[in-house]
Amino acid sequence: MSNLSVNHLLGIKYLNLNDLKLIFETSDHFKEVINRKIKKVPSLRDVTIANLFFENSTRTKISFELAQKRLSADVVNFSSNGSSVSKGETLIDTVNNILSMKVDMVVIRHPSPGASVFLSKNVDSCIINAGDGTHEHPTQALLDAYSLSERIGDLNGRKILIVGDILHSRVALSNIFTYQKLGAKVTVCGPKSLIPKHIESLGVTVETNFIKALNQCDAVNMLRIQNERMSETYFPSTREYVQQFGLNQQILDSLNKEIIIMHPGPINRGVEITSEVADSDQAIILDQVENGVAIRMAVMYLLASKLY
Ligand code: CP
Repeated sequence: MSNLSVNHLLGIKYLNLNDLKLIFETSDHFKEVINRKIKKVPSLRDVTIANLFFENSTRTKISFELAQKRLSADVVNFSSNGSSVSKGETLIDTVNNILSMKVDMVVIRHPSPGASVFLSKNVDSCIINAGDGTHEHPTQALLDAYSLSERIGDLNGRKILIVGDILHSRVALSNIFTYQKLGAKVTVCGPKSLIPKHIESLGVTVETNFIKALNQCDAVNMLRIQNERMSETYFPSTREYVQQFGLNQQILDSLNKEIIIMHPGPINRGVEITSEVADSDQAIILDQVENGVAIRMAVMYLLASKLY
């Protein structure tokens, strides 16, 4: 059987097209498994995985843990709140102490960009990036592309729009790498202040006219404004942001075709997207969450096969 070209999942940047195809094919199998009456397989029975969350999470944390339990792995959960991190322990010391208890794989979410790359170079374990600051969120992009191709088929040649806070978004960067590797064309849209200056060098198109951008895409990923990462003001007011870049049913009805609506969550209902749109048949937001479990099972299963 073929396997991944990497020993860690640090970012989509490090994967090739065969890796993406292998993860998606393996996810098909696990999606079938988790829809059975008995949802569990013994694949990772001898593997111990630590979930280290140094930053808040709902979907990613629960999804990884469910995926690990469906694969019969032993799981330990660490959250920086209430840990010895507050006493001054370094990241490497924290992780090495956990690894000394015979842990095989580490899933890490951290506010610092590059935290998972840093760990992979400094500790002896398989590392999976569950979101590192504004850098990458690889499993989110994998589940996004998988869910979209379930709806519209092969993404080669398709046009994907990413809207909102591109500057602070790890989802945007991982989405861009994933869709481009699959042959799709990516456009980003949002206030100029929230579009990184040299983003075109990644091969994406920048469009500041929201309606024009929507009319040209097959699917749109509506990103959340990441207030928690902002140290200054990037647009005059939330009201003005909604007027220019908020997606509502009236806008959708005015477009020249039906497009697919995506959102990585958590949603700010009434800001980047209205409840009517989020809950509509055009939105695949809960499919994305559902598919996250199968995608994460596939990633951990494929990486675990390289452990010994
Ligand atoms: N999409 C995502 O990463 O959500 P959480 O922050 O809740 O994990």
